[in-house]
Amino acid sequence: MEAVNKVAVIGAGMMGAEIALCFAVSGHEVTLKDATLQLAQKGKDRLRTVLDKAIQKGTFEAKDKDGTLSRITPTEEYDVLKNADLIVEAVFEDLEIKRAVFAKLDSLCKSDCVFATNTSSIPITLLATSVKARRAGRFLGSHFFSPASVMKLVEIVPGLETKEETVSFMMDCCRKIGKTPIRVKDVTGFAVNRILHAMWIEANRLLEEGVATPEDIDIACKLGLGHPIGPYALMDHTGMDLNLQVQQILHEAYGERFRPRPILKQKVNANHLGRKSGRGWFDYQK
Ligand SMILES: NC(=O)c1ccc[n+]([C@@H]2O[C@H](COP(=O)([O-])OP(=O)(O)OC[C@H]3O[C@@H](n4cnc5c(N)ncnc54)[C@H](O)[C@@H]3O)[C@@H](O)[C@H]2O)c1
Repeated sequence: MEAVNKVAVIGAGMMGAEIALCFAVSGHEVTLKDATLQLAQKGKDRLRTVLDKAIQKGTFEAKDKDGTLSRITPTEEYDVLKNADLIVEAVFEDLEIKRAVFAKLDSLCKSDCVFATNTSSIPITLLATSVKARRAGRFLGSHFFSPASVMKLVEIVPGLETKEETVSFMMDCCRKIGKTPIRVKDVTGFAVNRILHAMWIEANRLLEEGVATPEDIDIACKLGLGHPIGPYALMDHTGMDLNLQVQQILHEAYGERFRPRPILKQKVNANHLGRKSGRGWFDYQK
């Protein structure tokens, strides 16, 4: 398969903008498309802050900032994507919205362009039916983690029809942008979310049984298991509504072992959603 020269990312939100940044940092020209030019530009603007933080941390050189950002072109147009070699889709987690985006892209992109979706929960094989049969071999999942500009892992998820050369191509693209890809089957939650939520559900059982406090469970995971962040701090970061939604999807797929604990539902009902609502397991209003 050809080298990747032109990359496009669809959806300039939390994930899409930073995925675009990963490609731009490693020298690729990236088109960043959202529903409107304003939204695409807003996604790009946020990347200044992301790079400033990286400069402060010493992981990015200040002299490369403007050049990197100049490689990202925000747009609302579809037509400019027709020569892309790789498209990474990161729009809302909604089957119908993603289907419409892929059908439109399929009608205009060149035939060897690879389509990768960042979906967390929609089966890749199902999403691949949004494109015509001849593209299905070039369709796969590439699941980045938040914050995408920092986290090294990408789960590469072939669907039923994905060609082996597409998997190798995407694995290679990930390595070229400094990520570490792992290959995972097209199952609900892929690998990471299954491990993560199994742990969070058990942490919530400990809490319900009064075995330990959220503070102490976080200390346990950091000092006893070497995790960089404890489960309760991380749950507050991702948001309790999303956490509950993912557990409901896992519960539906795998049954009892992923049944969300009542205490999590209570937190959602109380609007203790985490950092975004000012209060989750911990208080951020102080
Ligand atoms: N947030 C996470 O931690 C995370 C982690 C891994 C994967 N994901 C997945 O990544 C995808 C994006 O998530 P996010 O958190 O960045 O969402 P987000 O809501 O921050 O961003 C989605 C963006 O898509 C845009 N969009 C919606 N419809 C569009 C369309 N038709 N055309 C172009 N742009 C459109 C929106 O305007 C928005 O800017 C989802 O599939 C999600 O499941 C999210």
